[in-house]
Amino acid sequence: MIVHEHFDVNDQGHLTIGGVDAVDLAKTYGTPAYILDENVIRQQCRIYREAAKAHFGADALPLYASKALCFTEMYRIAADEGMGVDCVSGGELYTARKAGFPAERIYFHGNNKTDRDIADAMDMGVGTFVVDNAEELAAVSAEACRRGITQRILLRITPGIDPHTHRAIVTGNVDSKFGNAIATGQAMQIVKASLAAEGVSLAGLHCHIGSQIFDIEPFADAAAIMVAFLADIQKECGVVLSELNLGGGLGVRYTEHDRQIDYAAAIGDIAAIVKAQCKQHAIPLPRIILEPGRSLVAAAGATLYTVGSVKEIPEFRNYVSVDGGMPDNPRYALYQSRYTALIANRASEPATYRATLAGRCCESGDLLGEDMDIQKPVRGDVLAVLVTGAYNYAMASNYNRLPRPPVILLRDGKARIAVRRETFEDLTDHDQ
Ligand code: LLP
Repeated sequence: MIVHEHFDVNDQGHLTIGGVDAVDLAKTYGTPAYILDENVIRQQCRIYREAAKAHFGADALPLYASKALCFTEMYRIAADEGMGVDCVSGGELYTARKAGFPAERIYFHGNNKTDRDIADAMDMGVGTFVVDNAEELAAVSAEACRRGITQRILLRITPGIDPHTHRAIVTGNVDSKFGNAIATGQAMQIVKASLAAEGVSLAGLHCHIGSQIFDIEPFADAAAIMVAFLADIQKECGVVLSELNLGGGLGVRYTEHDRQIDYAAAIGDIAAIVKAQCKQHAIPLPRIILEPGRSLVAAAGATLYTVGSVKEIPEFRNYVSVDGGMPDNPRYALYQSRYTALIANRASEPATYRATLAGRCCESGDLLGEDMDIQKPVRGDVLAVLVTGAYNYAMASNYNRLPRPPVILLRDGKARIAVRRETFEDLTDHDQ
């Protein structure tokens, strides 16, 4: 096992992903390539579903936050596993619709839905809008009235929690582009406006405090604040809102230094706080929605590259360059995210070579990691970066006119292409 159970080494000394030889995969599909073990994604969905049901009751629903990894087959997998989904743009909604995802189980997010997004989502019959702000409330209400429908909504609330994760992925602070702060009184204001608005029915509240969080405490604090706010709404407005969406954010093990979260136990811990708070405030347990992205898909993934140059600069460092980089994985450049990497065709050799992993783009910041201990590489080796299932393909670009890699799904030892490799022709397809 390397970091997660589905990464291992076979008798030939090759990395295996879900039991499949990574060197064979690189030969068959070329590099760079995203590989995903579908069994792991399904297993994670089941953990969330079962724990949500066990701890919050049969009507609890985990949503897959599809910004983490979005392509048609992914929505089919989520649908098949009985999940809802969180979509955040017209493009995600369109992809979900193409996959035949049940519209009533879609929660439509985003802090700046355009008029077109709102109309498209209503055309599709999206079950729930998570309304971010007063202007959006007015726009959703107006469009629903024009259509003579009542749109179910939640309101995005900022509980004022700092979850101690990377600054760029914190979202629950009062000073945030998302939502309405309880502390400033704006949350209560938008609740009242929603209750008075025509064409919408306010089902409940949503919060999301951030991402890649390992401690339960900030989730528990946020949940407690949200339940107390539900009780305040009951007191001030005389209504009992029936749904509480607690967002996503549980962390994932990227390296041997990260803890492995027991997700079922974490959901149990959060449930205990929510239930205790409901009891204390004498309000009924609302229907609980969870919204994980990273923890459903990150561990399932690995990216395979081919090693090109190995440049040793005496007294400085060793640059190992691969045939991908920040266009397929911008996370080190953006957040200095740590990964585990290894030479897939000599995975049983000791990892005694300290490398800076560089991409092939024309800028120095194009790195996949620094101070990474790998097997001594030579040109032509297959380099694997593990745990790349979340926010890699989803954040990929064509910088330097590099075609995006394919996404290969593995299920029970068999591989299939879920997204084909982009071609140079694809790159000029939109050019006039
Ligand atoms: N719900 C909402 C409203 C969100 O904004 C997000 C993530 C999630 C759920 C899912 O959170 P997760 O379970 O994946 O932590 N690109 C960054 C992560 C940005 C997260 C954005 N929002 C990264 O690569 O680390």
